[in-house]
Amino acid sequence: MATDHTGITHAPGALPIVGHLFPLLRDPLGFLNTLPSHGDLVQIKLGPQRAVVVCRPELVQQVLLNDRIYDKGGPIIERVGNALGDGIASCPHSAHRRQRRSLQPAFSRTCLREYATIMAEEIDTLRTTWNDGRAIDVATQMYTLASGTIGRTLFTAEAARPAIDTVTECLPDIFRGIYQQAVLPPLLRRLPLPSNRRYERARNRAWAAVSKTIGLYRQDSQTHGDVLSMLLEARDDDGGTLGDAEIHAQIMTLLVAGIDTTAVALTWAVHLLCQYPDVQERLRTETAEVLGSRTATWDDLPRLDLASRVITETLRLYPPGWIFTRTTTTEARLADAVIPPETNIIYSPYLIHHDERFHPRPDSFDPDRWLPEREPVRGAHIPFGGGARKCIGDNYAMTLATLALSTIVTQWRLSHVDHQLPHVEPRMTLSPHKMQARVECLVRAPD
Ligand code: HEM
Repeated sequence: MATDHTGITHAPGALPIVGHLFPLLRDPLGFLNTLPSHGDLVQIKLGPQRAVVVCRPELVQQVLLNDRIYDKGGPIIERVGNALGDGIASCPHSAHRRQRRSLQPAFSRTCLREYATIMAEEIDTLRTTWNDGRAIDVATQMYTLASGTIGRTLFTAEAARPAIDTVTECLPDIFRGIYQQAVLPPLLRRLPLPSNRRYERARNRAWAAVSKTIGLYRQDSQTHGDVLSMLLEARDDDGGTLGDAEIHAQIMTLLVAGIDTTAVALTWAVHLLCQYPDVQERLRTETAEVLGSRTATWDDLPRLDLASRVITETLRLYPPGWIFTRTTTTEARLADAVIPPETNIIYSPYLIHHDERFHPRPDSFDPDRWLPEREPVRGAHIPFGGGARKCIGDNYAMTLATLALSTIVTQWRLSHVDHQLPHVEPRMTLSPHKMQARVECLVRAPD
């Protein structure tokens, strides 16, 4: 194993031309978890490109907190920009403050409280389709819940419904495409492979559906009190309105950043509650006391402690966003290493969350590790990233997941259909491939 003059260790096993492409496509999580044993800063190769993986929480925090030096960039961000336009998640530091200011009001506590009403309605709609004793496809159900809720938060107008449906249909191919395109060498990206074509088609359809919705809203003078209306009314620092391209990029970004991540988190939470029926029973005791048999609402949140710890622990074990990239804008010092400008940097919540130095017994599901009296290692729980680029939808996601999980557990007993662990599919998000659960109704007529 080589350490170069900059103090960065080189991960073993890189092949000529493709570098670490095969482990990154075949078993990226297993590969990532081997890296900390080589050092705190480990270089891997994506085809001809190199990237430095940061393997300690305090170093990851330095990267996240210095967004001027460690700017958005690198192969994943390039692909995200290509798929969504230059929105808040992929724009450079120089454009970010302004974009964040225009979007932040849509995620205020007051707005979240309003969105919680939409969340409760969508949770109710979902469970009316479940039948006592039957199996449900958990991933599909949670995807329907997240896309319905986030879609309605962004555009409430009835005329936007088809756009939500189209985007919802296209997102899985967009996700798969972004990850594959990020790890493929540039030459292979441009070949007319079926996967590349599927990705292009999905991206273009979603893009057109969102454009059409913005056009409909522009023609219509009434405000709908949703995120798209807020963006259309927003003023930048000079008092100007936002252009269509920027609004388009923000809407695509929110759809892509919000739906799959939240759906995947809920799917893993259901899986873990099936795998640990004792935790499921404890959670039911809590939710029954708070809710009786009704749907959880915003006002219940402060009393749904265990539900929120279950989600936090789920996000530790299976962080939906498992890998992110940055690029150094100048020479940077990290630990003892000197990192040249334009170096790709990788941080992985999955890697940090599964390192036993920071999370004892990292593979066991223990929601009580998040009890207030237990002190977690600082900076070692990063499912929503950190610093200026921290997830803007963190509270939105936690609210939806807590309300949904509490309501589901109060009204249904969940169990695995088969006892095989779901296969983990690392796309842009860490997705469980095929996850079924049997649902047993616990309330006579759910109201
Ligand atoms: C459990 C669900 C979610 C997880 C795990 C998650 C995770 C993350 C992470 C890790 C980042 C930082 C990425 C980086 O450092 O490069 C991020 C950014 C972002 N997320 Fe989320 N997210 C979730 C839900 C949502 C939701 C519901 C929305 C909106 C509806 C959303 C919108 C965004 C946006 C816009 C950014 C970019 C923020 C910026 O750069 O200023 N996310 N998310």
